[in-house]
Amino acid sequence: MTSPGSARTYGFGVVGCGVIGPRHAEVADALPNARFVACTDIIPDRAKALAEAHGGDFEPDLEALLSRDDVDVVSVCVPSGLHAEVGVQAAEAGKHLVVEKPIEISLVAADRLLGAVKKAGVKMTVISQHRFDPGLVELRQLLEAGRLGRLVLGDARVKWYRTQAYYDSGDWRGTWALDGGGALMNQGVHYTDLLRWCMGPVDEVMALTAIQAHKMETEDLALAVVRFSSGALGTLEASTAVFPGFRERLEISGTEGTVVVEDGRIVVREFVSEHGDVGLYGARVGSEGQDAAASGASNPAAISNDAHASQISDLLAAIDEGREPLMTGEEARNAVELILAVYESARCRGPVSLPLS
Ligand SMILES: NC(=O)c1ccc[n+]([C@@H]2O[C@H](COP(=O)([O-])OP(=O)(O)OC[C@H]3O[C@@H](n4cnc5c(N)ncnc54)[C@H](O)[C@@H]3O)[C@@H](O)[C@H]2O)c1
Repeated sequence: MTSPGSARTYGFGVVGCGVIGPRHAEVADALPNARFVACTDIIPDRAKALAEAHGGDFEPDLEALLSRDDVDVVSVCVPSGLHAEVGVQAAEAGKHLVVEKPIEISLVAADRLLGAVKKAGVKMTVISQHRFDPGLVELRQLLEAGRLGRLVLGDARVKWYRTQAYYDSGDWRGTWALDGGGALMNQGVHYTDLLRWCMGPVDEVMALTAIQAHKMETEDLALAVVRFSSGALGTLEASTAVFPGFRERLEISGTEGTVVVEDGRIVVREFVSEHGDVGLYGARVGSEGQDAAASGASNPAAISNDAHASQISDLLAAIDEGREPLMTGEEARNAVELILAVYESARCRGPVSLPLS
């Protein structure tokens, strides 16, 4: 998890100290080549509490945090529609960036951030921590080795549950202006990224969205049918209205087999080549069981820090080695583009082609 041979210790500044900001401070504390240095929030008491808990400094505003020479990396943990506003300033101050998901809520804002990072010559990763889950690491290896053959179908499901109190807990949650969408943009972006990562670029989307169980501006249910550039088809489903919240699931099928990932672990791994007895009607599925692990399905605070730590560690290794991180800003933009295509299709009640203009 550490960058091997790294001589440097990176100082972290956290901007936004709500639900996820403290995770970034914890990860910085836990990694051997990182340390939490300072934080800021427009609600000063939140930043003061975080600074106190981790032995760092509270800064009154972003400018003060960015002016510190001991802050090398800024974790952008503010509401999604403010990622570019904070991230651009941090990049211009010469700081490397860990930006929470999604990269931003519009392609214009995402491109502004990508442009600033490029101009400043700093490194950025956008959190998609489930790429670092063991099941995804293995699935990607299987895909790269061609073990699934030609891909035919990819399905991503995030059937989670959030109460009305969750949406009422922050005035940005469930708004177009700052959340940029609902269940798909906020919760579903993780598995949207994984689906796009495994299946490749998307040509066309047809979608429906609805508000089923909450008082909110944006959707708590999104369903989409997707045609990938490869010719494979897929579905994308995201909800925060499904009680009690189920493990998120990714199913990838090719001509040579199927892999199913649930909650970051492979639960089905079936290859044609390993079934001696495939008859006219397929073969019996031999699924692996898994115990009920902590999942973000019903409680976002239940997520472990391991995958965040792996992703942030990879960013530090990328800085040390002068390479791009495993999760780039451009790939994070791909996930947002797909989500925006889903919203556009639902709005116009018809198919939407990608890339979006
Ligand atoms: N990777 C994950 O699993 C995960 C989980 C939760 C949230 N997130 C992402 O993290 C981001 C924050 O979500 P959250 O749930 O922590 O939200 P939150 O509302 O709990 O926290 C956001 C914090 O940012 C502060 N803030 C707002 N504007 C600010 C500004 N201009 N400068 C400084 N501070 C500002 C708020 O006061 C608040 O304390 C979102 O983009 C969300 O999508 C990611």
